[in-house]
Amino acid sequence: MTLLQELESRLAAALTAVLGQPAPAAVTPAADLRFGDYQSNAAMVLAKQRKVNPRALAQEIIDKLDLTDLASAEIAGPGFLNFRVLPAAYAARAAALIRDERLGVPTPGAGRTVVVDFSAPNVAKPMHVGHIRSTIIGDSLARIARFLGFHVIADNHIGDWGTQFGMILQGWKTLLDPEALEADPIAELVRIYREVNAAAKADPAMLETCKAELVKLQAGDAENLAIWQHCIEVSKRGLQKIYARLDVTFDHWLGESFYNDRLAGLVDEFLAQGIARVSNGAVCIFSDGSKPQADDPFLVHKEDGWTDNPAIIRKADGGFLYATTDLATIQFRSDEWHADHVWYVVGVPQQLHFRQLFDAAARWGKTGDLRHIAFGSILGDDRKLMKTRSGDNVQLADVLEEAVARAAAVIAEKNPGLPADEAAGIAETVGIGAVKFAELSQNRLTDYVFSWDRMLALHGDTAPYLQNSYVRICAIFRKLDGPFDAAACRLVLDATEELHLARLLVRFGEVLPTILDDFRPNLLANYLLELARAFHSFYEACPVLKAAEPSRSSRLALCELTSRTLQQGLALMGIKVPDKM
Ligand code: ARG
Repeated sequence: MTLLQELESRLAAALTAVLGQPAPAAVTPAADLRFGDYQSNAAMVLAKQRKVNPRALAQEIIDKLDLTDLASAEIAGPGFLNFRVLPAAYAARAAALIRDERLGVPTPGAGRTVVVDFSAPNVAKPMHVGHIRSTIIGDSLARIARFLGFHVIADNHIGDWGTQFGMILQGWKTLLDPEALEADPIAELVRIYREVNAAAKADPAMLETCKAELVKLQAGDAENLAIWQHCIEVSKRGLQKIYARLDVTFDHWLGESFYNDRLAGLVDEFLAQGIARVSNGAVCIFSDGSKPQADDPFLVHKEDGWTDNPAIIRKADGGFLYATTDLATIQFRSDEWHADHVWYVVGVPQQLHFRQLFDAAARWGKTGDLRHIAFGSILGDDRKLMKTRSGDNVQLADVLEEAVARAAAVIAEKNPGLPADEAAGIAETVGIGAVKFAELSQNRLTDYVFSWDRMLALHGDTAPYLQNSYVRICAIFRKLDGPFDAAACRLVLDATEELHLARLLVRFGEVLPTILDDFRPNLLANYLLELARAFHSFYEACPVLKAAEPSRSSRLALCELTSRTLQQGLALMGIKVPDKM
């Protein structure tokens, strides 16, 4: 049980004693440490319901409240209950964490399966910075969910069956440079795609040729299928390299094409069940009128009122769409994987698609919990969508390359004596970590301005700052001669800095589950920054190796616990720690 849960259960017992029936204890971390560690507004809420004086009710509750060995309580303002946890209780809990591999983190997800649908770039197109957000946020949420006990299935739903293949097939047959394909497959596919695309724009006959290639592919033409297959393979290999560098892994890569042979039957089923109907030759899903208009994703408000905004699942020419594939995907994940939850980590522009998708799935009887975890854009210094100087989309691989190069410069300046290969390894850890942390420490819904200097700063809200805190603790332990057994130490929390550090260490297990309330890895980022700051204050105020016993051992134990928590917290963001930098 976390501290918060323990307080909640004791308060719940007191509430039952006072009211003669259970009532919600509503304990939350205190907004301001000066008033205590935790608070509850239960007395105020209950007094309002019962029309009694809230402070008097609060007093009655406190009289029945047994906080032995845990905390002290006081009434504040109109009837808040404020709790201050006893230093001894923090010491006991921190000591228990030393022996706990999981650092006090519970497993609320046990027994539930979640599919995390993230990254999902489009084959034969380069991954751009928009995909970086999905990849990093999705990977972190998958890691966090796994640590919280969920059975996590990470699925890369790549776009491997789009209309882009008409152009790519045409380019492959007429423009391909096999050597270039060998050297950098994604770049060569992009080149031929671009050239054909430009040609098709200028010449309608070319556009028709491309469409004909696509139709042949969709009809199962052997030559086109073989080329398509080849494109997928080389693209995947290129993607794998980036994922390896990012340390991102998937359990499956079931791209759009995997669902092809399910689409026709699905559309028939939607027609038979009356969820979809034919309109102008296309099969469409319309509003079923069951929702208030403002909440109905199949309606849109135009000047003359609400009008239909259907989702097409089969075009008049017989072609299927993104939405059709996504419906088939929902069915597969539910039938084959028994997914309780599906989290789609995809940008804000696809919001309408997912609202329609989830509504259609519900009408189809799919009951799982489906969530669109949306995110905003990455902006350049000019606050416009980030682009390269030539106006192209910035590519993820280039971002990583530059991050590592810049990290190498920072490290060379800070620690010029490091051997070259060691410095290179550290630069990789710091550079990639900086990019990930810059992403994850943002509120995912706001657009964020990409800044190399800000993300690589050693002092600031950055990964290098956290990694440096970890490195400092490693340095303390390197200076220690002889073994150290944290588990054998008694913790003494005399200084306020010691107490505050212990308080934050104990809070790790409380913070982590809250991240999934609204899918906000930035809560973890904030927590780790606060922990690192608490560590630095502690380290300035409290000598460690030079302290007398029992403080010395106790402080070493706090250091060890801090380094484990930093390492674990960063690992849940997919960020590694160096032991020097
Ligand atoms: N390939 C899509 C894109 O790049 C993202 C796919 C997201 N997942 C899904 N099941 N729709 O925009």
